[in-house]
Amino acid sequence: MREEQRPVIRIAPSILASDFSALGQECRAMEQAGADMLHVDVMDGHFVPNLTLGPGVVRCIRPHVRLPLDVHLMLTSPERYAAAFVQAGADTVTYHVEAETDAAALLRDLHALGVRAGLVLRPATPAEAVFPLLAEADVVMVMTVEPGFGGQKFMPAMLPKIAAIRAEAQRIGRPALDIEVDGGIDLSTVEDVVRAGANLLVAGSALFGAGDYAAAVRSLRERAQAALS
Ligand code: DX5
Ligand code: ZN
Repeated sequence: MREEQRPVIRIAPSILASDFSALGQECRAMEQAGADMLHVDVMDGHFVPNLTLGPGVVRCIRPHVRLPLDVHLMLTSPERYAAAFVQAGADTVTYHVEAETDAAALLRDLHALGVRAGLVLRPATPAEAVFPLLAEADVVMVMTVEPGFGGQKFMPAMLPKIAAIRAEAQRIGRPALDIEVDGGIDLSTVEDVVRAGANLLVAGSALFGAGDYAAAVRSLRERAQAALS
C-alpha cells in the first residue's frame, strides 16, 4: 500500500466510560493525553436498552476541547436528532444502518450541514449492508460488541467483516476510507482490528479506566501503529 493510501490511526476515547460529574475536565484531560477525537455515545432506550445524553450535553462539552467530536447515534430515528447534534458541535455523526431511516438521505443531509457522516453496523449485520453507500460515507463503524453498554468483551467474529469492508473500499478506489471499531478495544484486541483494516479506534474503559490517560493513549496508539507496519 502506498503511504498516501494508508489510513491514519486515530484514537477516540469514549466518554461513556468517563466521570459524568466532571465531564468537561475529563474531556480536557483526554485532549491533553493526546487523543485524536472524542467519541460520544447517544442512546435512546429504544434502539438500545440504555439511555445516555442529548445535544445539550454535546453543547456543554464543545467549549472545553478543540478535539473533533465523533457522535455515535444509537437511535431508532436518527434523522430526527442529527441536525441538533450538528448545531451542538458534532464534527462527525454516525448512525446505524439498522435504524428506521433512509440512510442515503441522512448521509446527504449531514454533508449539506457541513459535517462528516458515517454508517454503523451491529454485530449481526453483514458488511454488504453498507456497500451501496461506501462511496459517499466518510466513515464506516463496525460494532465489535452489541451496542448499548461499555465494558463488554470484544467479539473476534467481527474481524472478517472489517476486512471485507476494507477490501470493498479498496476495490471502489477509496483505500483511505475511515473504518472505525467500537467495543472492547484495548491492548489485547487492537492489533487484530488494525490488521483487519480498522484505523479509527474507539476505546472507553481501556482509556478512561486507566490511571494515566496519556500513557494509555500512547500505548494503544503504539500497538496499533506497530500492527500497521
Ligand atoms: C457501546 C458504545 C461504545 C462504548 C465502548 O454501545 O458504542 O462506544 O463506550 O466502550 P468499551 O471501550 O468499554 O467497550
Ligand atoms: Zn460508540
